[in-house]
Amino acid sequence: MEVNKKAKIKPYIKKSEIKKRIKELAKRINKDYRHKKPIFIGILNGSFIFIADLIREIEVECEVDFLKLSSYGDSKISSGEVTLLKDLNCKVEGEDIIVVEDIVDTGLSVKFIRDLIMTKKPKSLKFVTLLYKKDIAKLDFPVDYIGFKIKNDFVIGYGLDYAQKYRNLNGIFVL
Ligand code: IMP
Repeated sequence: MEVNKKAKIKPYIKKSEIKKRIKELAKRINKDYRHKKPIFIGILNGSFIFIADLIREIEVECEVDFLKLSSYGDSKISSGEVTLLKDLNCKVEGEDIIVVEDIVDTGLSVKFIRDLIMTKKPKSLKFVTLLYKKDIAKLDFPVDYIGFKIKNDFVIGYGLDYAQKYRNLNGIFVL
C-alpha cells in the first residue's frame, strides 16, 4: 500500500523486527506448551495478521478460534466500554487457552476477555500481545508474552487500524 504523505505516517517497527520478535515469542510458547494442546484465540479485527504469523511458528498441536469485540470506531481513544460482537465457538472448559491481542492500551479489553473466558472454566489462560502501551495499561494480572512495549503513541498497520484503515501496512507506523 502506498502511504498517503498528507496523513503524516511515521515508520515505527519494521516488518523484519516484527518477524524476528514473533519467532522469539513462538519459541517460548512452544517450550511452555510442549506437552499441551493450546487453543489460540485471536481478538478481531486487529490481531488477524499477528495471529496468522504467530500460529505458523507454533510447533505444538493447537486450535484457533476468534472473539470479536467492539472497536474504538473513528476515535483514537478508548470509549471505556467493551462489548462482545462474536463469541467463541470452541470448547473452553478444561482447555489451555492463549488469547492473542494486537495491542494492550488501557487494558479494558483484556480484562473483559479474561472475565468472559474465566466463566467458561479453562484449565489455564494466558495472554500474548504484539504491542503493550507500558505507561497506560493498568492490569492486576500479567500479560504473559509481550512483543514490544511502546510509548503512548497511536499506532497503525500490521492489522491495527485507524477508522478501519491502514490494517494492510506491512509494519507498524505512528499516525
Ligand atoms: P484497550 O481495551 O484500551 O486495551 O484497547 C485494546 C484495543 O483497542 C486493541 O485491541 C485495538 O483494537 C485498539 N487500540 C488500542 N490502541 C490502539 C492503537 O494505538 N492503534 C490502533 N488500535 C488501538
